Amino acid sequence: MKGIILAGGAGTRLYPATLTVSKQLMAVYDKPMIYYPLSVLMQAGIKEILIISTPQDLPNFMRLFGDGSQIGVRFEYAEQAAPNGLAEAFIIGDKFIGNDSVAMILGDNIFYSAGLEQLLETATKTKKGGHIFAVHVTDPERFGVVEFTKKGKVVSIEEKPEKPKSSYAVPGLYFYGPEVVKEAKKLKPSKRGELEITDLNKVFLKRGELTVTVLPRGLAWLDTGTHAAMNRAGNYVQIMQEMTDYNIACIEEIAYRKGWIGEKELKATIEKMGKSSYADYLRIVEKEVEGEG
Ligand code: TTP
Repeated sequence: MKGIILAGGAGTRLYPATLTVSKQLMAVYDKPMIYYPLSVLMQAGIKEILIISTPQDLPNFMRLFGDGSQIGVRFEYAEQAAPNGLAEAFIIGDKFIGNDSVAMILGDNIFYSAGLEQLLETATKTKKGGHIFAVHVTDPERFGVVEFTKKGKVVSIEEKPEKPKSSYAVPGLYFYGPEVVKEAKKLKPSKRGELEITDLNKVFLKRGELTVTVLPRGLAWLDTGTHAAMNRAGNYVQIMQEMTDYNIACIEEIAYRKGWIGEKELKATIEKMGKSSYADYLRIVEKEVEGEG
């Protein structure tokens, strides 16, 4: 399975902070925002990843991650000329996806939960159709909204409805079979001028090929859209890290524990991270894994 991180958009709600810096490169506590969605793809076992961003911001992502060998993955990069909608990612990613299944995550979506790997296990096996998620929220009108029957069967999905039929929003993590590219190419822009991922999901729903998994209440899906939300997300990460002694979205830790990189690569990152607490944490990981081995 391939992975795409869609990290374009304008981030206008975060102006002036995002006037010259991509939203997804801003720090959420101690690391760039994109580390969080990247860590989700890595936890799902995905090692081939396409990062899509704006023509202005893409060079910065390339400087940050390079070819990915320092974390044992392979990155490709592509531009999205304008924010034409989430479903455009599959058209941009056509060649990259090829005949594989693909997971797409938005560059500003932060998920945190114990047992995330197990939660994603079925979705990562998607060969055909789509597998998306639903999260209980208090403001569903801001999202794609899933309506279920009492027995949990999906009845409808609506994009930003004025009168939501449920409190279940679709978060920015989607899994599809390879036919998603062909289906994305058939989409017409919505009234707001975007190729909507909700329209794509409706195609698969109509065919009976859409699975929707409701995420458990212990899972945190953090918003970063506004200044207040950014601050809250940062505070959450700080508190969780300090209280559990584990870092959230430490991509080198994930790679090292999975055996995707060895000590040499880990030491090189520790060196590069200077006097930061991030480097201190990686030193602890190195010792701990050595002890286990
Ligand atoms: P939005 O929340 O729609 O966009 P935003 O956060 O850039 O914008 P604003 O503050 O102006 O409301 O998009 C969600 C995520 O998807 C965000 O990370 C940007 C990204 N995105 C793209 O990369 N390409 C697109 O075409 C769209 C619509 C969004």
